[in-house]
Amino acid sequence: MLSSVVVAFVGLSGLVLAKCPTIPNLNSYNVTSLPNPFTFLSGAHVVTTEDWACRQAEVGTLLQRDELGLMPADPQSVTASFSASNNTLTITVVDQGTSITFAPTITFPTGGSSASGPYPAIIGIGGISIPQPSGVAVINLNNDEIAEQNDQTSRGQGLFFEMFGADATAGAMMAWAWAVRRIMDALDKTPGTGIDITRVAVSGCSRNGKGALVAGAFEPRIVLTIPQESGSGGTDTWRISDWLLAGGLDTQTASEIVQENVWFSTAFDQFANTSVNRLPFDHHQLLGLVAPRGLFAIDNLGYDWLGPESSYGALVAARTIWKTLGEETNMGFSQSANHTHCVFPSTQQAELDAFIDKFLFNKPTNTDIANTAGNYTFAVPNAMWAPWIPPRSLVKKRD
Ligand SMILES: *[C@@H]1O[C@H](CO)[C@@H](O)[C@H](O)[C@H]1NC(C)=O
Ligand SMILES: *[C@@H]1O[C@H](CO)[C@@H](O)[C@H](O)[C@H]1NC(C)=O
Ligand SMILES: *[C@@H]1O[C@H](CO)[C@@H](O)[C@H](O)[C@H]1NC(C)=O
Ligand SMILES: *[C@@H]1O[C@H](CO)[C@@H](O)[C@H](O)[C@H]1NC(C)=O
Ligand SMILES: *[C@@H]1O[C@H](CO)[C@@H](O)[C@H](O)[C@H]1NC(C)=O
Repeated sequence: MLSSVVVAFVGLSGLVLAKCPTIPNLNSYNVTSLPNPFTFLSGAHVVTTEDWACRQAEVGTLLQRDELGLMPADPQSVTASFSASNNTLTITVVDQGTSITFAPTITFPTGGSSASGPYPAIIGIGGISIPQPSGVAVINLNNDEIAEQNDQTSRGQGLFFEMFGADATAGAMMAWAWAVRRIMDALDKTPGTGIDITRVAVSGCSRNGKGALVAGAFEPRIVLTIPQESGSGGTDTWRISDWLLAGGLDTQTASEIVQENVWFSTAFDQFANTSVNRLPFDHHQLLGLVAPRGLFAIDNLGYDWLGPESSYGALVAARTIWKTLGEETNMGFSQSANHTHCVFPSTQQAELDAFIDKFLFNKPTNTDIANTAGNYTFAVPNAMWAPWIPPRSLVKKRD
């Protein structure tokens, strides 16, 4: 079981994991604060860039094992064809002795077509809820078809599970991330799509924003990840969300989320049902799997259910990871005042444009954006949530 986790991660980090420390089997993990991103589960410190690659792989492995389920290894084959008449990319995946087909549509910029490309693109998990940026195509993934997300009865339903079996450990979000990887495979090998595979982002809102973050975390060919109003299970940390609920705020938490839907692996239930303090990670580290690539998180302060204070803590903690890697401004966030859920406010447009320009048009723009309209004071270090100091930088090699 664990070996297939490792196989999945060799591809993501390009790293020979034999060199990484073995992950200890710590059933007694029980920590109230957000785990230190720069300390291995064994307690060893991250000092070098090689250490960090191993730590990132460790966190990716733990997130798969305890929360999201396994990302399957690359499939036997992916073939695709693009039709310029209906702008549809038809993708056929063969693996596990079976074959599935799904067909994302591509919405080209106004006045554009595949012939006038190549364009950068945003893969929309269930479409996008940000305005389609000028000069950018949108690739629409019908994620519900890959893995359903109606309620508990959706467990194991969808094309992904036709291929991997209804007892695959992946929750719906990991299945969508797998589909995003197959879209990247298809773009890579299909001429004439009008899409530049080196400039592809992923986005989605609310539940699909949680999914966008997971896809960005587990697909390294994505250059910009834009989770929008993703709340708990997305940019929030499980620990701070539990604390908000305990303080009387009606915030979504792990114990609620595993009852509501099938976004996570059933392996997550044992933590959600007891204490999230037993998780050897939290979502500041899911965010950190994206580092040092681009990430811009969009939040809405108006809904307690989304736990924006929990998201703020996660985002501030996660930004220290980019900072240590010397790429602090590759990661940004904006928390705006209340507006209707998933209706993007014009007040965040310039901030979003800065990230689009930098990562999808390679323009040198100022993306030093860490803005909240809230009154939050979370900082690193702080005694309650982040009693750790990130290394100022990482050294290239041990002496
Ligand atoms: C976790 O630690 C707390 C004290 O910080 C303790 O009260 C609790 O029983 C522990 N839980 C488990 C599952 O060990
Ligand atoms: C798009 O067009 C191609 C070829 O013209 C066709 O095979 C395919 O079924 C069409 N797809 C959709 C979703 O209409
Ligand atoms: C978690 O709690 C739910 C509801 O009480 C229950 O259905 C499920 O079996 C529990 N799972 C685990 C692993 O404890
Ligand atoms: C937030 O905005 C929505 C849409 O305008 C409104 O329905 C809701 O009542 C607002 N919430 C708060 C806390 O003001
Ligand atoms: C922040 O605090 C100020 C002053 O206490 C208050 O007027 C304002 O409503 C608060 N803003 C938010 C988003 O809670």
